[in-house]
Amino acid sequence: MAIQIPRGTQDILPGTVEKWQYIEAKAKEICELYNYKEIRTPIFESTELFLRGVGDTTDVVQKEMYTFEDRGGRSLTLRPEGTASVARSYVNNKMFGSPTQPTKLYYIGQMFRYERPQAGRFRQFVQFGIEALGSNDPSIDAEVIALAVELYKSLGLNNLKVVINSLGDKESRQAHRDALINHFQPRINEFCGDCQGRLEKNPLRILDCKKDRDHELMATAPSILDYLNEESKVYFDKVVAYLSTLGIQYEIDPNLVRGLDYYYHTAFEIMSTSEGFGAITTLCGGGRYNGLVQEIGGPETPGIGFALSIERLISAMEAENVKFPFEDSIDCYVVALGDKAKETAVKLLFDLRKAGIVAEKDYQDKKMKAQFKAADRLQAKYTIVFGDDELEKGVVSIKEMETGEQQEVAFEDAVAFITAKKSGER
Ligand code: HAM
Repeated sequence: MAIQIPRGTQDILPGTVEKWQYIEAKAKEICELYNYKEIRTPIFESTELFLRGVGDTTDVVQKEMYTFEDRGGRSLTLRPEGTASVARSYVNNKMFGSPTQPTKLYYIGQMFRYERPQAGRFRQFVQFGIEALGSNDPSIDAEVIALAVELYKSLGLNNLKVVINSLGDKESRQAHRDALINHFQPRINEFCGDCQGRLEKNPLRILDCKKDRDHELMATAPSILDYLNEESKVYFDKVVAYLSTLGIQYEIDPNLVRGLDYYYHTAFEIMSTSEGFGAITTLCGGGRYNGLVQEIGGPETPGIGFALSIERLISAMEAENVKFPFEDSIDCYVVALGDKAKETAVKLLFDLRKAGIVAEKDYQDKKMKAQFKAADRLQAKYTIVFGDDELEKGVVSIKEMETGEQQEVAFEDAVAFITAKKSGER
């Protein structure tokens, strides 16, 4: 039996890969506009990074990591997300020492989570993410959200909802934590084993438990917004005021707690509101992680960012029937008949490509009719046709496929002829 692809992964084949390339190009383009620079970090990291960075009571760390020991006995993990790696790199490379702050970075790469595969949820997926480290200015929170919204819009998405919340600073989070413990403790035995373990360690995590989400105590749980201290409130107010200035509509959801432990202050998600998009509507998630850099051994540094998966982005584009603006066609197909002509076609093809013309020929010794069929299948705009006889006369016949118009051209002028046609098209 043929070996099958691992569950929760997918091959991205020609015909689809162009969508990915298009989206990646758009993401890079917008990062350039907002002055975020690309960073590439390893696909595996020390397991310790995610235990400390993402948090050892999160589902991601407890249940979803691909962790293995290498031959040297080190525990390594395929990255489940990009923020911890960026923070590690920021510390290791002493980026905090650069006079240009905040440090604004972006990444596009594979992430790995051992989740139950379903629509929009893969075990290997590609995240595009940005991180801005070194600023506590609420305008950068708004900038990060704006970049995500603008990217979606530039890709033709309109059915979007921005949901935002504040998790407050350390003091606010502590007050909320105490309130959560008081709320859940009397009936914690009605909750799953994971939640029971989380009660003392990290009660906030109970709020995003997938198993107990319908328990009546969930709906009445104390809201973080009631526990924000003055400073956190002022910060949050400024962030949402900036969003309004930028014309970004948002909803405040006090239940938005996010699934990773490093968040303080701003937390946000962008959802698709398209009908029939499926159960998982979150396209993008992010927030502020002011404790993370210190947690992994660096100096106290604030940070904010988001990540989105290209898989979910493509599904959202499909749900909104967005047309991808690329054509799957070639400029020119060389149809050659006879031994001499076929040999000559090799050099002609090379010269066409050198001139920037997307060109192809037959490699399977096909008859003329089959070669024309192949040219049609590739949606060639022009064919250059010649046999041994034409070659002797030093001419080729060039056919414009759409109109059927045919013209005889001197062999040595063929490349220039197609080049002129191509530039005329633009
Ligand atoms: P996250 O919410 O875990 O946050 O993931 C961000 C996005 O990655 C999700 O909104 C979704 O688009 C995508 N995603 C997550 N898991 C899967 C999956 N199994 N299959 C397909 N797509 C998935 C983070 O990862 C944070 N690092 C975001 C961040 C950056 N916060 C601050 N900076």
